[in-house]
Amino acid sequence: MSPHLRYGLLCTSLCLAASLATVIATGTTTQISSSFSALSSMPLTAPPTPIATSVVRTSSTSASSVSGVSFPSVGSIPKDFSPAGLQRLWDVVGPVEPPPFTTTRIPKTPIALPSAPPPLYPSWFAPAPADILTNLTLPKGFFFGVATAAYQVEGAAKSEGKGPTMWDWNSRQPNGVADNTTGKISLWSHRWKELRLMIPVWDIVDLQYFLYKEDVARVAALGVNAHSFSISWARIFPFGTADSPVNQEALKHYSDLIDYHIAAGVAPVATLFHWDTPLALQAYYGGFTSPKIVDDFVNYAKTVFKAYNGRVKTWYTFNEPRVYCGQIAGYPFNISFAPGVNSSTAPYQCSYNVLRAHAGAVKAFREMGIQGEIAFKNDDFVGIPWRANNTDDMQAVERHAAFRLGAFSNPIYTTGDWPEIMTDTLPPSFLPRFTAQDKKDIKGTADFFAIDSYRTQYIMAPPDGLAACVSNPSHPLWPECNTPVLFDSNAGWAAGISPDPASDSWLQATPNFLRQSLRDIQTRWPTKKMYISEFGFVEPFEELRTELFRITEDVARTSEILLAIHEDKLPIAGIFAWAMVDNAEWSSGTSAKFGIQYVNYTTLERQYKRSALSLCKDLSER
Ligand SMILES: *[C@@H]1O[C@H](CO)[C@@H](O)[C@H](O)[C@H]1NC(C)=O
Ligand SMILES: *[C@@H]1O[C@H](CO)[C@@H](O)[C@H](O)[C@H]1NC(C)=O
Ligand SMILES: *[C@@H]1O[C@H](CO)[C@@H](O)[C@H](O)[C@H]1NC(C)=O
Ligand SMILES: *[C@@H]1O[C@H](CO)[C@@H](O)[C@H](O)[C@H]1NC(C)=O
Ligand SMILES: *[C@@H]1O[C@H](CO)[C@@H](O)[C@H](O)[C@H]1NC(C)=O
Ligand SMILES: *[C@@H]1O[C@H](CO)[C@@H](O)[C@H](O)[C@H]1NC(C)=O
Repeated sequence: MSPHLRYGLLCTSLCLAASLATVIATGTTTQISSSFSALSSMPLTAPPTPIATSVVRTSSTSASSVSGVSFPSVGSIPKDFSPAGLQRLWDVVGPVEPPPFTTTRIPKTPIALPSAPPPLYPSWFAPAPADILTNLTLPKGFFFGVATAAYQVEGAAKSEGKGPTMWDWNSRQPNGVADNTTGKISLWSHRWKELRLMIPVWDIVDLQYFLYKEDVARVAALGVNAHSFSISWARIFPFGTADSPVNQEALKHYSDLIDYHIAAGVAPVATLFHWDTPLALQAYYGGFTSPKIVDDFVNYAKTVFKAYNGRVKTWYTFNEPRVYCGQIAGYPFNISFAPGVNSSTAPYQCSYNVLRAHAGAVKAFREMGIQGEIAFKNDDFVGIPWRANNTDDMQAVERHAAFRLGAFSNPIYTTGDWPEIMTDTLPPSFLPRFTAQDKKDIKGTADFFAIDSYRTQYIMAPPDGLAACVSNPSHPLWPECNTPVLFDSNAGWAAGISPDPASDSWLQATPNFLRQSLRDIQTRWPTKKMYISEFGFVEPFEELRTELFRITEDVARTSEILLAIHEDKLPIAGIFAWAMVDNAEWSSGTSAKFGIQYVNYTTLERQYKRSALSLCKDLSER
């Protein structure tokens, strides 16, 4: 197991999708032009400009091997804030096809919801969501929200002055694993036709940058009253740094977008960073592996706070920093570290810089007197001992909690410092230590607790025992020294529903563990307010818009949340369904479909799925 995999959980999907890119690169590109002609026939408020004929291709020079991935070495691109300097950055990515228009489409309102779908089961077997726990109501002002992230939905990768991001670059990197003959690959092969579409889809996805009005109107029609989206740093600062120019077009874009949300009765909830690092910062100094990022992030945050103060009232600094910091330690991002950082230390150097950047942004937020509340989005869970009452597994749960939720939540919510389990295991050369001033600055920098809650799993100690791992840095499970398990320890029963293995292998729906999981969080990192900032599921045959598993899970989950509010007295003030629409699920491309609305990637037309209607019935009427 390579070192970076110890921290992140994305290895399987990352390598898998990257190796598929090889397949895609050799495929035909005819679908690309057909999707563009479909776009150009959309009714627009201004005439479309002519469609260029070139298509996006993966670079053949970088396709030779894993180690052949090209990225300029850190510091080799000079800071040049001219248009030519911006183009120099885009050249690292390769050719990008901008959409053939520059104005947003105005939806026809009001949007009519479709008639109710026919029941799938007799009512004695499957009651309607609205019939469940009918006497439990939602607290006043509860957010029934949906969520998205800039890279995953916006498209318009190069429109209106945007700079490139590391995901614009990553989406063109072929060949994640040398061995593409694993069982998982063959599961994918029946989808080749669909996967070829991933090349243009990466630059266009849902084109929400130009279609946000329609998307907002469509969720408002469902009764949704909040949308958690992210702002693209590289749109506002194409070169990322504090001394570089602000892109006024981008500031204006998000300003209009925020106003449109407010007018539609959908509260805008903004995340400053959802993984789309400006490529410039990676090239200048190694992105989040360098402490230089702190000042640049704080400067970006201040610019955005000032621009949207009083209109956005709920803010997040970072989305799932633990996953992000694990991801950048692995392929293909691991070609660009700050001096002295390597794949083993990158996740921890990144975590350290993220925490200081978060604290700096929140300090600025408070000093500037920005209205509203701010925190960050956590991921993961505390965990359940695989073998009940087994001492090693109980300690493994503690290790899991420390390295996952605790890495960011202990510093921010409780101590100002890393969990002791982390500092006891990792030397300062891996995990930088905070100064007394850092600790003061970091502690208390969140107004609420936000959890992206997808699953809760059993946690098992290393098979050869905890002691053998903790003291041995060459143990394959070091430094976390625990493993999540999807099956019970008695008969190997799965703890929950798994989706199509081709679409997302890490996911297992476990609504039965949800209340326990939320109680664990409130016990360890108590706050006066909690948001379930993301939840959701993918499943096979999603194009049928039926989503049996997801609806079952959503109903169980929303009902459990009601019980958590009423019986466990947890201060849950909102939940946000991932996602508002189908989107680019990072390395899985558009094959993993989490949307409560289906998107046809030829026409970009959206259609409500059953889950959208069932959530709407269950939540908007309470
Ligand atoms: C709410 O419903 C539950 C279950 O149907 C029942 O036990 C409880 O008494 C009800 N509470 C009120 C206040 O009606
Ligand atoms: C992996 O796939 C590529 C592209 O299809 C092929 O050239 C290569 O031989 C495959 N590698 C193995 C080990 O099968
Ligand atoms: C990046 O990670 C891949 C595996 O994920 C590894 O093969 C490669 O050697 C790493 N590159 C660097 C520069 O660490
Ligand atoms: C685990 O220990 C608790 C407390 O001692 C006990 O109530 C419970 O029955 C035990 N569970 C199992 C599966 O042994
Ligand atoms: C990475 O850096 C750490 C800390 O300097 C060092 O202990 C470790 O040996 C390095 N790992 C590699 C693979 O170079
Ligand atoms: C997308 O829309 C086009 C045009 O209406 C239609 O021909 C096609 O079947 C749709 N694709 C899917 C996968 O629904």
